[in-house]
Amino acid sequence: METRVLPFNDDAIAEAARLILAGEPVAVPTETVYGLAADATNAEAVARIYEAKGRPSFNPLIVHVSDILEAQQLGHFDAQAHGLANEHWPGPLTLVLPLTEGSGIASIVTAGLPTIGLRVPSHPAMQALLRAVRRPLAAPSANLSGSISPTRAGHVLKSLGGRIPLIVDGGATQRGLESTIVAATGGLLRLLRPGPIDVEAENASGAQIEAPGQLASHYAPSKPLRLNANSAAADEYLIGFGAVAGDSSLSLSGDLVGAASRLFDLLHQADASAKPRIAVASVPEHGLGAAINDRLQRAAAGGRSAN
Ligand code: TXA
Ligand code: MG
Repeated sequence: METRVLPFNDDAIAEAARLILAGEPVAVPTETVYGLAADATNAEAVARIYEAKGRPSFNPLIVHVSDILEAQQLGHFDAQAHGLANEHWPGPLTLVLPLTEGSGIASIVTAGLPTIGLRVPSHPAMQALLRAVRRPLAAPSANLSGSISPTRAGHVLKSLGGRIPLIVDGGATQRGLESTIVAATGGLLRLLRPGPIDVEAENASGAQIEAPGQLASHYAPSKPLRLNANSAAADEYLIGFGAVAGDSSLSLSGDLVGAASRLFDLLHQADASAKPRIAVASVPEHGLGAAINDRLQRAAAGGRSAN
């Protein structure tokens, strides 16, 4: 794939919006670092973020929206969260909040969790893209897994060149450090990731912030899960892949992007079924298969506390 680099202007944003609506990830600057953005309501588009980054595991991604009203449609704000949002948005603060039911956000974005990380970025390029696509955008940093976060278009090109169709070049990012993440769930504020905003020092809303906090970072089903199954026992719900059909299939054609996009939905479906156990067909280890197998192995090892 050829990676184009276009300077930030109306034409670049129109092209970026066209690609995003076609399900492709696009690199775009934010005030913190360059993000690799995809339509957060399109599971396959989000799976392509993981494919491009070569990330060997799924973790919940931050969802970017254009303003607080849009954020309020996706997450539940208590008074403390509202105070922080008013104070710091648009800007480098991410709030982890209870996910609104029927939000339309793909489950791969939240890695199956009932919470969502939300941010209103201030950078004009990301703002213009959000307004052009009128969709929430999932965007981790635009670099290969394991390398440092990109603060210039050239960094993105070096890392992801040939793996994504477009980089919008908005020059060097202002902050150079990923957003501060605060969880506002269950009536408590917890600092999950320190960042450009020192929330404890700058917290004018008067809320108490515990730092650093722990939060369940991954969804795992509550039932025992067996890997590499060719068929189901009588008490098992079988999640199939390729030739192993199962009660439902990650991908009948053996497509890994499709499989990644359905993984968390099918785990939830299996968990909610009448069968007390879950079995999963084997998934090849190449490409997105590594991240899928990582998640399945953690689920098989048991426990919601798995990281
Ligand atoms: O500055 C930034 O925040 C950059 C730019 C591109 O906006 N984005 C970024 O996104 O760093 P990302 O997706 O790499 O951040 C993911 C982190 C997760 O590792 C987790 O710590 C936290 O955000 N997170 C997101 N959603 C969460 C959730 N539902 N529960 C707990 N943590 C969550
Ligand atoms: Mg990163």
